[in-house]
Amino acid sequence: MTILPTFDMLLFGGTGDLVTRKLLPALYRRFVAGQVSAESRIFGVARSNLTRAAYTAQAQTACSQFLGKEFAAKQWDGFSRLLDYVSLDAGAEKDYAALAALLADREAVVRVFFFSTASNLFAVICQNLAKAKVVTPLSRVVLEKPLGHDTVSANLINEQVGAVFAEKQIYRIDHYLGKETVQNLMALRFGNALFEPLWRRGLIKHVQITVAEELGVERRGNFYDKTGAMRDMVQNHLLQLLCIMAMEPPASSDADAVRDEKLKVLRALRPLRDRDVLTKTVRGQYKAGAVRGVPVPGYLQESDIASDSSTETFVALKVDIDTWRWAGVPFYLRTGKRLQDRVTELVVTFEEVPHPIFDMPNTTHTANELVIRLQPDESITLTILAKNPGEGMRLKPVSLALDLGETFKTRSLDAYERLLMDTVKGNLTLFMRRDELDAAWAWIDPIRAGWQQYDEGPKIYIAGTWGPASSSAMLSRDGFAWHDEL
Ligand code: BG6
Repeated sequence: MTILPTFDMLLFGGTGDLVTRKLLPALYRRFVAGQVSAESRIFGVARSNLTRAAYTAQAQTACSQFLGKEFAAKQWDGFSRLLDYVSLDAGAEKDYAALAALLADREAVVRVFFFSTASNLFAVICQNLAKAKVVTPLSRVVLEKPLGHDTVSANLINEQVGAVFAEKQIYRIDHYLGKETVQNLMALRFGNALFEPLWRRGLIKHVQITVAEELGVERRGNFYDKTGAMRDMVQNHLLQLLCIMAMEPPASSDADAVRDEKLKVLRALRPLRDRDVLTKTVRGQYKAGAVRGVPVPGYLQESDIASDSSTETFVALKVDIDTWRWAGVPFYLRTGKRLQDRVTELVVTFEEVPHPIFDMPNTTHTANELVIRLQPDESITLTILAKNPGEGMRLKPVSLALDLGETFKTRSLDAYERLLMDTVKGNLTLFMRRDELDAAWAWIDPIRAGWQQYDEGPKIYIAGTWGPASSSAMLSRDGFAWHDEL
């Protein structure tokens, strides 16, 4: 384990959910692991008028709750010495003087500005940082998603941030890229020669990507009702997973070599326009039901949701990638809140044998399948047909299963631990480049426009199920089924 260069990290939105529940625990873990130098400093930056002691106490409560048994008072003592708080109104130029004073004489130290605020504040924060002259050559800015709400707004933010920070200083976060198994998917594809020849049309029938959540909108009604599943999840997490699945082998593991290949995938996505939305997309909204036997309210009854809201909490899509490798291989994407299970998995279904010489089992499992699971557990499973013991040649699907937790017997890094450390190290590989973001929005916008024009609104599904029936129907029209329906 390498000790990181000394850094100053400024967490804007410092009293918010992401900072207290994810970023501070992630930094604490890296501190406990011995990666953070004692000279490094972490500042919560927010509007509330808090003393350092009050902020540290607040952070301690959140971290101990989040970290459970991992939290140790003695270690926290050491960590909290790195913590400080700056009270600042993002729009008030004068407030930045205090920040500049704290950063004076630390130009030689890596400086990370992490914006965990609404994206409409990004521009003004950047301008004020520039005016306060605190953006040094060793500075980086980390932008939390969603970046804008469509192509035009994302462009504007990118222009405004780009006026202060060079592209190589901009870290657009998609925390899914920081998940261990996403890295493992790269290892599987590009560390083994075995799969590459199989990874194409003719051998793969279809690919499914599911990111299912049991949770509802929690306390984020205000944000979510304006955003919806398409912009909250598909535009970023699902498209990034799709890119890693579908991209060509990059020439190296350098940030730009990887990002160039992902960009090619995004640009090759066949546009879904106008009436395409009726056959290749399904949007849904949950009504009251029960998740794991616990009754939960419907979306329209959640707090801060308009009573006539037509925001989607579920999306399923059939996506075509117009390249030699993937022509004719559908990628089915699905995500939703208040579904039956919390599961994130990628399923690759291979073709059947061209000429069966044995009695094949009469199930939809006939084909070989590769299931890469990111959540709740991390595993890679390959289904093959084996001979059922005993007389005769009867075949049966069995699994070659790799449980990554069990195999490595170690806790894998939380996505934010990895990504925060990457910002300090200056490694951009797991962050989105501007052109990737542009390409993703360019593909998403026409779908949303098509919904406005041709779709009657989200289909209702009962909380605790796998979404609207039309999601299953979309696959069965092609002769397939979602993995959990097999
Ligand atoms: C976030 C979305 O980006 O990802 C949330 O805004 C969603 O709505 C979350 O719940 C899911 O992340 P994870 O890591 O819990 O799967």
